[in-house]
Amino acid sequence: PLPEAFRARLPIPPVLDPVRRDEMTDYYEITQKVGQASILAGLTTEVWGYNGILPGPTLVSRRGRRTVVTHNNELPVPVSVHLHGGKTAPEHDGYPTDLILPVAGDVGHTGHGGTSVIGSRDYVYEMDQPAATLWYHDHRMDFTGPQVYKGLAGFHLVCDDHEESLGLPSGDSDIPLMILDRSFAADGSFLYPSVDPTLTETPGVSADYMSGVLGDCILVNGAPWPVLEVSNTKYRFRILNGSNARRYQLRLDDGTGFIQIGSDMGLLAAPIEHDAIDIAQAERFDVIIDFSRHQIGDEITMVNDRGRVGTSQVMRFVVSHEETDTSTVPDRLADIEVLSENDVTVEREFVFARGGAQAHGMTLWTVNGEPFSPDTVLARPKLGAVEKWTIRGQNVEHPFHIHLAPFQVIGRDGNDDPGRYNQGWKDTVNLDNGGRAELLIRFDGYRGKYVFHCHNLEHEDMMMMANFEVV
Ligand code: C2O
Ligand code: CU
Repeated sequence: PLPEAFRARLPIPPVLDPVRRDEMTDYYEITQKVGQASILAGLTTEVWGYNGILPGPTLVSRRGRRTVVTHNNELPVPVSVHLHGGKTAPEHDGYPTDLILPVAGDVGHTGHGGTSVIGSRDYVYEMDQPAATLWYHDHRMDFTGPQVYKGLAGFHLVCDDHEESLGLPSGDSDIPLMILDRSFAADGSFLYPSVDPTLTETPGVSADYMSGVLGDCILVNGAPWPVLEVSNTKYRFRILNGSNARRYQLRLDDGTGFIQIGSDMGLLAAPIEHDAIDIAQAERFDVIIDFSRHQIGDEITMVNDRGRVGTSQVMRFVVSHEETDTSTVPDRLADIEVLSENDVTVEREFVFARGGAQAHGMTLWTVNGEPFSPDTVLARPKLGAVEKWTIRGQNVEHPFHIHLAPFQVIGRDGNDDPGRYNQGWKDTVNLDNGGRAELLIRFDGYRGKYVFHCHNLEHEDMMMMANFEVV
C-alpha cells in the first residue's frame, strides 16, 4: 500500500557537528546502525543508516581543513565508506575490500587481500578541493547495491570562501535533495531481491533484476513524494540521484526552469538554464529555482518525464509566504580551467557491457570483458597526467564513475561537445545503450590503487568495476 503523494513534509537531513576541532582538523563520529523510519502510514521501515537515519547526517567541510570521520560499525555485516567525489588518499577511499567488520563477529567474506579492521575506522579527508556537493555511501565489494538500498547514503558538502562571496541563496534556502526509488514489502520493510537476504554469503540479485533494481515509490530525503513550503524567492537545491538503477528527467510542471550553477565536482563557469534535467545515478545538479513570479498558494510539482505512474512524480513546492530576496546568481561563477587534448599523454578505451564472465549461472557485467578482481589493474596513469578515456556502453545504460580523478567530457556519441548536461568538472557520466563518451581525466593528488565502475549498483556488484593505479 503506497502512501498518498504530497502529504509528507520534506525532511532536511541534520548537519553533523564535529565532536572536536583543532587548528587543522575537524573530527566527526558516525555509527552505522539499524534504525526505524516512518515512511508508510502505520508501519515502520528498518533502515541501515549512518547514525541509523536515511539520509545520513550531512557533513559540511571547509576547503583546506582536514576532516576525520570515525565510522563505527554496529550493523550485522561488513561495510566500507566511500566519499563520492572526494580527492582522497587510497587507504581512506573506501576501497571495496577495505572493510570495517562488525564487532559482533566474523560474518561475510573478508578475503581478497583488503585491509580490514574490526568495529571502527578513521577516514581522513584532506578536502583540498573546491566547494562541491559530495556524498558518502557504502562500497562493500559485491554488496553495495543492497547496503545502499537499506539506507547507507548521506551528503558531504564542501564549502569555500569563493563560493560564499557570490551571494547565492544560502542558509535555509540552500537545500540538499537526495532522490531515491524504493519498493516496500507488505510489512513496510524495503523490498530488495537479494539472492542471500542476510548479505553475508552469496552476492547478487535474482536473475530478473540483472539490469538493476527499481522501486515504485520516490523518496526525497527519505520521505515519499514530499512537500516543501517555500517563499517567493530563489532557492538553491543540490539534487543528487542516489538511486541504485533509476535515471530521471526532472521538470517543474508549471514551466519554471532550473538554473544550473554546479555539477558533480563544483561550480560551473557560468549558469546554464534548463527546462529539464537529465540526471543519472550518482550525478549531482546544483540548481537555483526562482519562485519569484509565483503567488501565495501556488503549487509547483517536480515531475520525472522518464517515470510511469508513481515514479513520474517526485515532490511538490508550495509557495506559502512572501520574503525579500537578497540572493543573487552572478553571470560568472568560477574560473574553470579547461583541459585540452594537447595535454593528453595517453589514450585508453573501455567497453562497459554484459559478458566475459559467469557466476551462479548468470552472465555478469564487465569492463573490457574482465570481471572485477582486486588484483587486476586495467590502467596505470602517471601522477599529474591528463589522459583521454573513451568509454563505450552496451546492452543498457551505464553511468560511468571514476574515483579520485575528476574529468571533463569533450565528446559524446560522435558529437564534439559534452552536451547540455555534462558541463564542468564531473565524476560521473551516463552512457546510453550503444553510447560513447570521450573524457579528459586528470590524475592528481595521490598515487595508489582506486576503482572505476558503473554506478548502476547492481551492475557494480555483478562485476562491472575495474582498478586503475596512479603511479
Ligand atoms: Cu558513488 Cu565508487 O562510487
Ligand atoms: Cu552499468
